Amino acid sequence: MSVLVLGGAGYIGSHAVYQLIDQGEEVVVIDNLQTGHQEAVHPNAQFYQGDIRDAAFLHNVFAQESIDAVIHFAANSLVGESMEKPLEYFDNNVYGTQVLLKAMVEHKIKHVVFSSTAATYGEPESVPITEMMRTEPTSTYGETKLTMEKLMKWTAQAHGISFVSLRYFNVAGARETAEIGEDHQPETHLIPIILQAALGQRNQVTIFGDDYDTPDGTCIRDYVHIEDLIEAHLLALNYLRTGGDSNIFNLGSNQGFSVKEMIETARTVTGKEIPAVIGERRAGDPSILIASSDKAMQVLGWNPRRTLIEQIMADAWNWHSKHSSGYRKVVEK
Ligand code: UFG
Repeated sequence: MSVLVLGGAGYIGSHAVYQLIDQGEEVVVIDNLQTGHQEAVHPNAQFYQGDIRDAAFLHNVFAQESIDAVIHFAANSLVGESMEKPLEYFDNNVYGTQVLLKAMVEHKIKHVVFSSTAATYGEPESVPITEMMRTEPTSTYGETKLTMEKLMKWTAQAHGISFVSLRYFNVAGARETAEIGEDHQPETHLIPIILQAALGQRNQVTIFGDDYDTPDGTCIRDYVHIEDLIEAHLLALNYLRTGGDSNIFNLGSNQGFSVKEMIETARTVTGKEIPAVIGERRAGDPSILIASSDKAMQVLGWNPRRTLIEQIMADAWNWHSKHSSGYRKVVEK
């Protein structure tokens, strides 16, 4: 049987495909290459280019392949963009998931692991954030992910499907061997932006506000290494295949770093100056987001091993310095 990875050409999906293949799984990838990169798809995966909103296309893939589980990463994922294009986000994320679930029901596929986000919580009441806390998204993006979780919950209940939703905090780093890594166009995430400045591709990093209620005034986030994050997906898959009930887990590292601390870490790791200036706050940024991942550790047996922020930064730097133009460089070779 194969695992179907939706969005397997994206940053997080491609890392999942590599680890699944490392573990001896047969993998089928679907990606519409809207933001993904064909070069990021593992050469041993069976790749279908197409859109999950295309029911006939999905049906064909399910009919041709022997699939027992789905890992669903195919979604738009930028908070800022989601506020400008809410209908696009609801269409791709929510409607796409609806089409997927309908196809899963028709083809009797029983398990789905789902890529969710800390953005489902909105502004937290307190940190660390546990799965029991209220979910009041402050962005369209977070709202679509919460709605996708609810679609899964009710469909799963009615049709005997089991799902695990994994709520990510700030995913960072890259596979240690650096064949794949993070390449967004345009880039909005802090670590790649800092490293682009280290490479001289940007003049400086703009820190979005230094008047937050934190020790150095800049926002605090919980950075989790992508390889640890993907290990949780493999554990979730095993949990579902062995009869585990539908469930929701946070994935973070239970520790927070400020924007200033991240820039300082990057200066140490890269040995570059990395000029930084203070700018305006970015709309919708909560001051502190830190996960409690205790539930994932206890129930799934998750054991994140790459929690040193220097290592996360070093693995991100390894990818960025070897692929300074992202996947475009790989194509030119
Ligand atoms: N930041 C800057 N300057 C930049 C870019 C980011 O100061 O040029 C700051 C942001 O204001 C924020 C922190 O760096 O305080 C991290 O920002 P990112 O854009 O890297 O990540 P976010 O915390 O905004 O978002 C991440 C994921 C989202 C997810 C969210 C959950 O990218 O998909 O965590 O809270 F929804």
